[in-house]
Amino acid sequence: KIARIDSLCAQARILPVITVRREAHILPLADALAAGGLRTLEITLRSAHGLTAIRTLRRERPQLCVGVGTVLDAQMLAEAEAAGAQFVVTPGCTAEILEAGLESPLPLLPGASSASDLMLGHRLGYRRFKLFPAEVCGGVAALRAFGAPFPGIRFCPTGGIRPDNLREYLAQPNVMCVGGSWMLDEPAMERGDWATIERLAAEALALLK
Ligand code: 3PG
Repeated sequence: KIARIDSLCAQARILPVITVRREAHILPLADALAAGGLRTLEITLRSAHGLTAIRTLRRERPQLCVGVGTVLDAQMLAEAEAAGAQFVVTPGCTAEILEAGLESPLPLLPGASSASDLMLGHRLGYRRFKLFPAEVCGGVAALRAFGAPFPGIRFCPTGGIRPDNLREYLAQPNVMCVGGSWMLDEPAMERGDWATIERLAAEALALLK
């Protein structure tokens, strides 16, 4: 499963974290991100449309890679798996969710914000984590500090990543990709301005060059 996470992150160095506000947004939003070059998506279970979005995208846009985010417990993991999610992201580490992740066929990226979280996950075999909330829990300095005691661990920092700090995060040797919602401009989505979403996605990717 570590290899599957690594191959997902090698394809997608920027993971959009999407909370679907309206069902009608699902396809145009995903199409705009894909047109901008972002084809691996994390759909959060923070809105009532999360599971519907995962089901719809798996059926209608099989070329995209669709994961689930904000998975808080084993029940939510089971629902997302049934909806067709291809990977799982959690905001934090509990013994319950880490164990459910071991039993699930899907790769799970647990959230971690402390050395204790990393030790809890490491003990069960996890080596890839979402650093969350990245900017609040120490940002690039935290990643550098975690590098010494946890040399085999790599991160997807998320939470506060923006165009102006993205490159510094991705330059860290223990960072595999970054996640964030900055390209999902809420006013643009509300007015159905998908061209703006496509542009923001393309601009994010252009920063990697
Ligand atoms: C998440 O849960 O991963 C965050 O909502 C994404 O963080 P951001 O909104 O600060 O990019």
